[in-house]
Amino acid sequence: MLSEIEDLAQEIDTLTIHTAQEAEQIRIKYLSRKGVLSQFFSQLATLPISDRAAAGAKLNSIKQKIQDKIDAAQKIDTPSTEAFDFDYTLSAKPLHQGRLHPLTLVEKELISIFERMGYVVAQGPEIETDWYNFSALNFEPHHPARDMQDTFFISVNPDILLRTHTSSVQVRVMEQQSPPIRVIAVGRVYRNETITARANCLFHQLEVLYVDKNVSMADLKKDLLYFAQEMFGKNTKIRLRASYFPFTEVSAEVDISCSICEGKGCNVCKYTGWVEILGCGMVDPNVLKNVGIDTEVYSGFAAGLGIERIAMLKYQVNDLRLFYENDVRFLQQF
Ligand code: DAH
Repeated sequence: MLSEIEDLAQEIDTLTIHTAQEAEQIRIKYLSRKGVLSQFFSQLATLPISDRAAAGAKLNSIKQKIQDKIDAAQKIDTPSTEAFDFDYTLSAKPLHQGRLHPLTLVEKELISIFERMGYVVAQGPEIETDWYNFSALNFEPHHPARDMQDTFFISVNPDILLRTHTSSVQVRVMEQQSPPIRVIAVGRVYRNETITARANCLFHQLEVLYVDKNVSMADLKKDLLYFAQEMFGKNTKIRLRASYFPFTEVSAEVDISCSICEGKGCNVCKYTGWVEILGCGMVDPNVLKNVGIDTEVYSGFAAGLGIERIAMLKYQVNDLRLFYENDVRFLQQF
């Protein structure tokens, strides 16, 4: 029997198991109740007492080897039948492609419209000084017009603030360049506002500035009409209403004929047929003087509009907050 145990040990040393199914057959053959090992164990009693312990230990080590090989084989992944059922002719699942944010789309379109008229994109910082945001733009230190813009100040220094409008870029450009100047500036602006469907503490503006010899209100109207018709369709009309801004004289607010009802009257235009889209005017001579431009030689116009407002009108979005919530169900529609 001892030599049979030796043979079994060799047999097990060379044993290889390839699949989990094979491992089960091996287990039944060697380790089950009627398997090879239990037969050997039951014959131990026939051996002389002096041999029993060594033979028993040998059998136990063989048993352990078999168990180890079975355990290893059971970890081998047997290919599931599903893999063979796979239909290679099926088309792939659609990839969800990212897309541009509606505000980015409007911004790009605005830039392209104004670039076609010869405007160049200018930039300015979002953290501004009082000079660029207010003083140079003809806001007197205690002018009530400052109250029009609830400002976020940075730290306790009232000189440093988050810009409340892109008009600050007008001053930066005019300080650095001499006329002719034809620029637009797009970017974020900040106001200390309660967040509602129509207002947010952060929004985006587009600023327009043209300074040259003999610039008149007629030039302003021409560019605004071109912009309105490119943005909202060829039949769009504009109208100017007198208004007030510290940095323009004369000042106007511009309405476009409602692009939704085409002027017939709907809830977007509040049944007037017109919707307000921007503020504009002739650059106040005080502003030109503040940046050292000769008002005897040059004049200019400026305009500012809210990007969100344009996007709301163009895409008929009735709640401003949707632009900032990043809900993909909303964003996927553009
Ligand atoms: N800065 C103004 C605002 O934020 C908008 C504006 C009005 C800009 C008239 C202009 C302008 O350039 O001429 O309310």
